[in-house]
Amino acid sequence: MSIREVLYMGQASLFQVSEEIREFNTPELDRLVNDMLETMAEMDGAGLAAPQIGVNKRLVIFGVEENPRYPDVEPVPLTILINPVIEMLDEKMEDGWEGCLSIPGMRGVVPRYRHIRYHGLDQKGNVIDRKVSDFHARVVQHECDHLDGILYTQRIRDMKLFGFENELGNKGTTES
Ligand code: NI
Repeated sequence: MSIREVLYMGQASLFQVSEEIREFNTPELDRLVNDMLETMAEMDGAGLAAPQIGVNKRLVIFGVEENPRYPDVEPVPLTILINPVIEMLDEKMEDGWEGCLSIPGMRGVVPRYRHIRYHGLDQKGNVIDRKVSDFHARVVQHECDHLDGILYTQRIRDMKLFGFENELGNKGTTES
Protein backbone atom coordinates (compact mmCIF):
# COMPACT_ATOMS: atom_id res chain seq x y z
CA MET A 1 0.00 0.00 0.00
CA SER A 2 1.15 3.50 -0.56
CA ILE A 3 -0.06 7.04 -0.10
CA ARG A 4 -0.72 8.58 -3.48
CA GLU A 5 -0.37 12.18 -4.55
CA VAL A 6 -3.68 14.03 -4.70
CA LEU A 7 -4.13 16.19 -7.79
CA TYR A 8 -5.22 19.78 -7.31
CA MET A 9 -7.71 21.81 -9.29
CA GLY A 10 -5.97 22.99 -12.44
CA GLN A 11 -4.98 19.47 -13.50
CA ALA A 12 -6.90 18.81 -16.71
CA SER A 13 -7.56 15.16 -15.83
CA LEU A 14 -9.84 16.19 -12.93
CA PHE A 15 -12.27 17.46 -15.57
CA GLN A 16 -12.41 14.22 -17.57
CA VAL A 17 -15.27 11.75 -17.55
CA SER A 18 -13.89 8.54 -16.04
CA GLU A 19 -14.28 5.03 -17.45
CA GLU A 20 -16.25 2.14 -15.99
CA ILE A 21 -14.37 -0.66 -14.26
CA ARG A 22 -15.05 -4.06 -15.87
CA GLU A 23 -12.85 -6.48 -13.92
CA PHE A 24 -13.48 -7.15 -10.27
CA ASN A 25 -11.69 -9.09 -7.57
CA THR A 26 -8.26 -8.55 -9.10
CA PRO A 27 -4.96 -7.75 -7.35
CA GLU A 28 -4.69 -4.50 -9.33
CA LEU A 29 -8.09 -3.29 -8.18
CA ASP A 30 -7.39 -4.32 -4.57
CA ARG A 31 -4.11 -2.38 -4.69
CA LEU A 32 -5.83 0.72 -6.05
CA VAL A 33 -8.54 0.54 -3.36
CA ASN A 34 -5.96 0.06 -0.62
CA ASP A 35 -3.92 3.02 -1.86
CA MET A 36 -7.04 5.16 -1.90
CA LEU A 37 -8.01 4.08 1.63
CA GLU A 38 -4.53 4.89 2.88
CA THR A 39 -4.46 8.24 1.08
CA MET A 40 -7.89 9.26 2.38
CA ALA A 41 -6.89 8.36 5.94
CA GLU A 42 -3.61 10.27 5.64
CA MET A 43 -5.40 13.38 4.36
CA ASP A 44 -8.19 13.01 6.94
CA GLY A 45 -10.75 13.09 4.14
CA ALA A 46 -14.41 12.08 4.16
CA GLY A 47 -14.10 10.68 0.66
CA LEU A 48 -11.81 10.27 -2.30
CA ALA A 49 -12.45 9.58 -5.97
CA ALA A 50 -9.95 7.70 -8.14
CA PRO A 51 -9.51 10.65 -10.56
CA GLN A 52 -8.15 12.65 -7.62
CA ILE A 53 -5.09 10.37 -7.61
CA GLY A 54 -4.82 10.46 -11.39
CA VAL A 55 -6.76 7.27 -12.14
CA ASN A 56 -9.72 8.07 -14.38
CA LYS A 57 -11.86 5.08 -13.39
CA ARG A 58 -15.32 5.06 -11.84
CA LEU A 59 -14.33 4.27 -8.26
CA VAL A 60 -14.98 6.30 -5.13
CA ILE A 61 -14.47 5.65 -1.44
CA PHE A 62 -16.01 7.50 1.47
CA GLY A 63 -16.65 7.13 5.16
CA VAL A 64 -16.86 9.26 8.26
CA GLU A 65 -16.49 7.97 11.80
CA GLU A 66 -18.19 9.57 14.72
CA ASN A 67 -15.91 12.40 15.81
CA PRO A 68 -16.44 14.45 18.97
CA ARG A 69 -14.66 17.37 17.29
CA TYR A 70 -17.42 17.51 14.69
CA PRO A 71 -20.64 16.70 16.52
CA ASP A 72 -22.76 17.96 13.63
CA VAL A 73 -21.26 15.54 11.11
CA GLU A 74 -23.23 12.30 10.85
CA PRO A 75 -21.22 9.09 10.63
CA VAL A 76 -21.16 7.41 7.21
CA PRO A 77 -20.07 3.76 6.84
CA LEU A 78 -16.74 3.22 5.09
CA THR A 79 -17.74 2.31 1.54
CA ILE A 80 -15.98 1.34 -1.66
CA LEU A 81 -18.29 2.11 -4.56
CA ILE A 82 -17.57 1.26 -8.18
CA ASN A 83 -19.53 2.27 -11.30
CA PRO A 84 -22.04 4.13 -9.11
CA VAL A 85 -25.48 5.21 -10.25
CA ILE A 86 -27.39 7.86 -8.31
CA GLU A 87 -31.12 8.51 -8.45
CA MET A 88 -32.75 11.35 -6.62
CA LEU A 89 -35.74 10.16 -4.57
CA ASP A 90 -37.41 13.55 -4.58
CA GLU A 91 -36.54 17.00 -5.81
CA LYS A 92 -35.68 18.51 -2.42
CA MET A 93 -32.27 20.14 -2.33
CA GLU A 94 -30.35 21.62 0.53
CA ASP A 95 -27.40 23.99 0.70
CA GLY A 96 -24.37 22.88 2.68
CA TRP A 97 -20.68 23.65 3.04
CA GLU A 98 -18.25 21.41 1.19
CA GLY A 99 -14.53 21.07 0.86
CA CYS A 100 -12.41 18.97 -1.47
CA LEU A 101 -8.96 17.43 -1.09
CA SER A 102 -8.24 18.72 -4.61
CA ILE A 103 -8.99 22.31 -3.50
CA PRO A 104 -7.23 22.44 -0.14
CA GLY A 105 -8.03 25.12 2.39
CA MET A 106 -11.22 26.27 0.72
CA ARG A 107 -14.93 25.83 1.37
CA GLY A 108 -18.08 26.61 -0.54
CA VAL A 109 -21.85 26.27 -0.24
CA VAL A 110 -23.28 23.74 -2.69
CA PRO A 111 -26.89 22.62 -3.24
CA ARG A 112 -27.37 18.82 -3.20
CA TYR A 113 -30.32 16.46 -3.30
CA ARG A 114 -31.36 15.51 0.22
CA HIS A 115 -32.66 12.02 -0.52
CA ILE A 116 -31.01 9.68 -2.97
CA ARG A 117 -30.69 6.03 -3.84
CA TYR A 118 -27.27 4.91 -4.98
CA HIS A 119 -26.12 1.59 -6.26
CA GLY A 120 -22.94 0.07 -7.59
CA LEU A 121 -20.43 -2.64 -6.79
CA ASP A 122 -17.59 -3.05 -4.34
CA GLN A 123 -14.11 -4.22 -5.36
CA LYS A 124 -15.17 -7.88 -5.10
CA GLY A 125 -18.22 -7.33 -7.28
CA ASN A 126 -20.79 -7.36 -4.46
CA VAL A 127 -23.82 -5.16 -5.01
CA ILE A 128 -24.26 -2.06 -2.87
CA ASP A 129 -27.73 -0.50 -2.97
CA ARG A 130 -28.77 2.13 -0.40
CA LYS A 131 -31.24 4.88 0.22
CA VAL A 132 -29.64 7.71 2.16
CA SER A 133 -30.24 11.29 3.17
CA ASP A 134 -28.55 14.55 4.05
CA PHE A 135 -24.81 14.41 4.82
CA HIS A 136 -24.39 10.84 3.54
CA ALA A 137 -26.21 11.81 0.34
CA ARG A 138 -24.07 14.94 0.01
CA VAL A 139 -20.79 13.02 0.28
CA VAL A 140 -21.90 10.49 -2.35
CA GLN A 141 -23.00 13.22 -4.77
CA HIS A 142 -19.71 15.09 -4.28
CA GLU A 143 -17.64 11.95 -4.92
CA CYS A 144 -19.64 10.78 -7.91
CA ASP A 145 -19.37 14.24 -9.47
CA HIS A 146 -15.59 13.67 -9.59
CA LEU A 147 -16.23 10.70 -11.92
CA ASP A 148 -17.94 13.03 -14.37
CA GLY A 149 -15.18 15.62 -14.13
CA ILE A 150 -17.19 17.99 -11.94
CA LEU A 151 -15.71 19.79 -8.94
CA TYR A 152 -17.94 21.32 -6.27
CA THR A 153 -16.83 24.80 -7.31
CA GLN A 154 -18.79 24.33 -10.54
CA ARG A 155 -21.98 23.87 -8.50
CA ILE A 156 -21.63 26.92 -6.26
CA ARG A 157 -24.48 29.33 -6.92
CA ASP A 158 -23.36 32.27 -4.80
CA MET A 159 -19.63 32.92 -5.05
CA LYS A 160 -19.83 35.04 -1.88
CA LEU A 161 -20.27 31.67 -0.13
CA PHE A 162 -16.89 30.39 -1.32
CA GLY A 163 -13.61 31.16 0.36
CA PHE A 164 -10.71 30.23 2.53
CA GLU A 165 -11.48 28.01 5.49
CA ASN A 166 -9.46 30.22 7.84
CA GLU A 167 -11.54 33.26 6.94
CA LEU A 168 -14.87 31.46 7.08
CA GLY A 169 -14.54 30.10 10.61
CA ASN A 170 -15.84 26.70 11.63
CA LYS A 171 -17.86 25.87 8.53
CA GLY A 172 -17.90 22.65 6.60
CA THR A 173 -15.49 20.43 8.45
CA THR A 174 -14.97 17.65 5.93
CA GLU A 175 -13.09 17.41 2.64
CA SER A 176 -13.67 14.77 0.04
NI1 NI B 1 -13.66 16.29 -3.78
